[in-house]
Amino acid sequence: MLQHRFFRKALLSSIAPLLLSGMLVAQITPVSASDHGHHKAHAKFNKAGELARPANFREWVFIGAPVTPKDMNNDKPAFPEFHYVYIDPVSWVHWKKTGEFRDGTMIAKELVSVGSKSSASGSGYFPGDYVGPVAVSVKDTKRFAKSSNWGYFVFGDDKAQSAATDESCVACHKTNAAKDMVFTQYWTVLRAASPKK
Ligand code: HEC
Repeated sequence: MLQHRFFRKALLSSIAPLLLSGMLVAQITPVSASDHGHHKAHAKFNKAGELARPANFREWVFIGAPVTPKDMNNDKPAFPEFHYVYIDPVSWVHWKKTGEFRDGTMIAKELVSVGSKSSASGSGYFPGDYVGPVAVSVKDTKRFAKSSNWGYFVFGDDKAQSAATDESCVACHKTNAAKDMVFTQYWTVLRAASPKK
């Protein structure tokens, strides 16, 4: 007990100056939203309702990489070939606490080619290069109330904004996704982190 109190006192007196200087620094250099980059990730729309391309999504939380290879899909899979999928970090924290997708959740899916079919580890499908569009889904219970609370967008290589895509995205997700329009049946990372088992 005594020892505890001693340590607390020692700790407090040693961090107090640090705290004070920290406050000074904070006053001199206010931390702007952009300094936090991806930590403040939230969906931005223009007046036409087009989603702005989310910045830094490759630094979000990676949740999985399904692959629909061309050679197993008559050369024409809907989303060729690897799909690298990420959830924004704020929504990831919410998911871990609640097992739910919060309003504002963004999930990005980026396409990567199959680079080769054999490696030192054996035969299989091994990733090549980034090959193009980024698909993004956004949960917004007001904006997308009519499409089960989710909006769907696709960005070409150099597109900064993307208009909402057609009904087909919504329809397939609604019919086949396991939870709240999201294919959690394939996102091992999400299932393992959910408090709802
Ligand atoms: C025919 C069914 C189908 C259609 C149409 C479809 N998707 Fe998906 N989508 C899937 C499946 C299956 C997955 C999960 C496995 C995978 O990525 O292959 C997925 C995953 C996603 C994900 C990752 C998050 C999640 O919901 O699991 C995003 C983002 C996404 N799709 C966006 C789109 C967009 C944008 C469109 C329309 C341009 C679209 N999808 C159309 C079947 C579909």
